[in-house]
Amino acid sequence: MNRDDFPLLQKHPDLIYFDNGATTLKPRSVVEAMEEYYTDYTANAHRGDYVNSLIVDQKYEEVRTKVKEFIGAEREEEIIFTKGCTESLNLVVFGFMKYYLKRGDEVLLTKAEHASNLLPWMELAKEIGFTIRYLPLSSTHQLSVEGVKNSITDKTKVISLAAITNVVGDVRPLLEIGKICREHGLLFVVDGAQSVPHIETNVLRDHVDFLAFSGHKMLGPTGVGVLYGRYDLLKQMKPIQFGGGMNNFFETNGRVEYKEIPTCFEAGTPPIAEVIALGKAIDYLKEIGMKSVESYEKELKQYFLKRAKEIDNLILYNEESASGIVALNLKDVFSQDTAVYLNHYGICVRAGNHCAKVLKDEWNIKNTCRISFYFYNTKEEIDTLIEALKKSKDIFQIVL
Ligand code: ALA
Repeated sequence: MNRDDFPLLQKHPDLIYFDNGATTLKPRSVVEAMEEYYTDYTANAHRGDYVNSLIVDQKYEEVRTKVKEFIGAEREEEIIFTKGCTESLNLVVFGFMKYYLKRGDEVLLTKAEHASNLLPWMELAKEIGFTIRYLPLSSTHQLSVEGVKNSITDKTKVISLAAITNVVGDVRPLLEIGKICREHGLLFVVDGAQSVPHIETNVLRDHVDFLAFSGHKMLGPTGVGVLYGRYDLLKQMKPIQFGGGMNNFFETNGRVEYKEIPTCFEAGTPPIAEVIALGKAIDYLKEIGMKSVESYEKELKQYFLKRAKEIDNLILYNEESASGIVALNLKDVFSQDTAVYLNHYGICVRAGNHCAKVLKDEWNIKNTCRISFYFYNTKEEIDTLIEALKKSKDIFQIVL
């Protein structure tokens, strides 16, 4: 699907890129938007009175509207540009939760979360003294609505979850969990790093209070991400970075006034080219349609699972999960050796713990090889992967 739009695939037709959970390839329109900013109308944002500066402001703010529409938010002010999902989650935790949570409160997470949805909470818990509790996962590592319901106590204040986890690839029932959060007066924080690029997102429908995601995992450039926050909550959130562009005035005596949301959260020169190019990535995804992206990835995964039966020394860990992520190992082979072996065939996969370092406590396995599909992958590429895995008896001749 649309492979001609991707310069990297044109340049390297034999490369098989199955590491889309880490970052995606970029379509030509995104690369060109970056180049145009640098060659045609370079200027800073929100600072100048000359033509190029006004063009920049207009293009930058247009992307805020595109993001708002793409994730089903209500207002432009609810969209904050950050440098990535990690910064977005740190902003919620240290700009909002730091003032919202008290000693003795409970925050519910899972052991399948990525480091960026665990470490900020762990750090703040040390400072404030709230408790982190982990929601139960089933034997297939899924989070159930019942499990969420049964874990809530009168001390629970927040539930923070990945919409799709980055190793297991399970798709969480956001709408049901969002409803539970509303019924119990809990705040619902969603890490959308692995979901926004792959399935339709609607923060209003799913009662999401904060949503964090990165541009580079959804065809956009690195260095740009988004934090969505419900308007009334963002009005209470405090900036965690201070500097130019986010203040109205400040005086020697320390008197200071910050700008309104979202500008007060975007201190310093923002990632201008990146934001503008993110707009092109959103245009591209909208053109395909998120429903088509989702169903095609599922088709690829099912095709892989069917063919995987032909390999007897393959261990699959997440056949049940509904996303385009497959976690596997070759029997008695260290996952990184498998990744190095596949690289020999021009196949890119990620190996290791994938930054989900407490998942091993649930899963009883530390490292896996992860294949993460996107819409430009093909069944022929999967065939090549299967053939390479079948030949893996040679692995140590190639790897060592
Ligand atoms: N968070 C990215 C991944 O899961 C880097 O690979």
